[in-house]
Amino acid sequence: MPDRPALRSQRLNQVTHAPHAELDALVKAHAPFDTRESFARFVVAQYLFQAELQPLYNDPDLVAIVPDLAQRCRAQQALLDLADLGTQAPAALRGPLQAPSLGEAMGWIFVSEGSKLGAAFLIKRAAALGLSDSFGARHLGEPLGGRAEGWKQFTRILDGLDLTAEEDAAAERGAVAAFARFTELLKHAYAVDAQLV
Ligand code: HEM
Repeated sequence: MPDRPALRSQRLNQVTHAPHAELDALVKAHAPFDTRESFARFVVAQYLFQAELQPLYNDPDLVAIVPDLAQRCRAQQALLDLADLGTQAPAALRGPLQAPSLGEAMGWIFVSEGSKLGAAFLIKRAAALGLSDSFGARHLGEPLGGRAEGWKQFTRILDGLDLTAEEDAAAERGAVAAFARFTELLKHAYAVDAQLV
C-alpha cells in the first residue's frame, strides 16, 4: 500500500484512483461526443446519479456542514439537458444509497462534486455537438463561483470534519460505492432499448 495521505480528500482521491481511471475508459468507450444520441445516454446516467444523490444534497444535517450544498446539486440541470436533447427522463431508480451515515454520505458527495472537475473537459467536447451550459450540457457547466473555488471550498470543509476512524472508513466505502454506482448507471443507460433516447 502506498503511504496514506494526511488529508481526507487526498485519501479519497487515492482509493478512487483506479475506479476513476476505469470509469473514464468506460465513458470514452461509449464515445458520448460522437453523436447527440450517444451523449443523451451519458446524460441519462448523470441524471439518474444526481437524482439518487438529491436527498443528500437537501439533507438539513449535511447542509449544516456544507452551507451551499443544495445549490450544488445538478439533478435539475441534467433533467433540463434531457429535455433539450429530446430525451424522455427515465424514472429515478432506487439505488444503494439508503440512509447513509455521515461518512458514507460525504464520500458519495465527494465523487459527485469531484466529477465537476472532469466536466471542464467534457463540456468542451460537447460544444462540438452544438451543446453548452445553456443547452443540452447544462449539468457540465461551470458552477457559480468557479470550478476550482467550489472544489476548494468543499474539500476544505471535508478535510476539517472531525470524524471517527469508523466514519472515515465509511467515507472511503461511500466514495468507492459511488463510482461503482455511476458505472452501473452508465452501463444501464447505454444498454436500455431505444425508447429511452
Ligand atoms: C461520477 C464520477 C465521475 C465521472 C463520471 C468522471 C468522469 C471523468 C472523465 C470522463 C474524465 C476525462 C475527461 C477528458 O479527458 O476528456 C475525467 C477527468 C477528470 N476527473 Fe473525473 N469523473 C468523476 C469523478 C471525479 C472525481 C471524484 C474527481 C476528483 C476527486 C475527478 C477529477 C477529475 C479530474 C481532475 C479530471 C481531469 C483529467 C485528469 O486529471 O485525469 N473526477 N473525469
